[in-house]
Amino acid sequence: MTGFDFIKCPLHRYTFSVRSIREWVEKECEGKVLNLFAGRTKLALDEVRNDLDDEATADYRMDALAFLRTWKGEKFDTILLDPPYAFRKSMELYKGILCSPFRQLKDEAGKALKPGGKAITFGYHSVVMGINRHFFLEKVGLFSHGGAIHDTIASVERYLPVIGN
Ligand SMILES: C[S@@+](CC[C@H](N)C(=O)[O-])C[C@H]1O[C@@H](n2cnc3c(N)ncnc32)[C@H](O)[C@@H]1O
Repeated sequence: MTGFDFIKCPLHRYTFSVRSIREWVEKECEGKVLNLFAGRTKLALDEVRNDLDDEATADYRMDALAFLRTWKGEKFDTILLDPPYAFRKSMELYKGILCSPFRQLKDEAGKALKPGGKAITFGYHSVVMGINRHFFLEKVGLFSHGGAIHDTIASVERYLPVIGN
């Protein structure tokens, strides 16, 4: 059974600067967290922060895909993905910093995640990683910003790879 949370809140280009979203994501994350598009808001979590923007509050300033491909440290319990949701948003809101090709990002994400870990993804879709990558949807968070503004959807997917495969 997939859980569902519905939260009314304002929209901000730095998603986690909105208190209700920040509190929701802090509650959903488990253990050691890779915050791959970290932005400016530190979370009350044990997080490794990455963001290409030199003004972000980050431990690493790498392209997200390059980060996943080169990470040699311990695997994470949670990966948090809050990229620019569309090409136009990258250009208008994030200094033209472009998100890495998202399909490739999804293919690599499992490699940095412990079996049993979570991927939490913000965007416009409810299923992101999907069962073909061995991710199972546990919860959807729907953040309603009111009026004609698009809702933000967060998906919480559990990584359950077939061990030995
Ligand atoms: C929607 S904002 C979210 C930021 C953060 N989650 C927050 O709430 O403040 C997207 C972030 O992704 C960063 N970004 C965009 N493309 C990137 C890339 N290819 N690799 C790493 N960071 C990137 C931007 O600099 C921006 O801070």
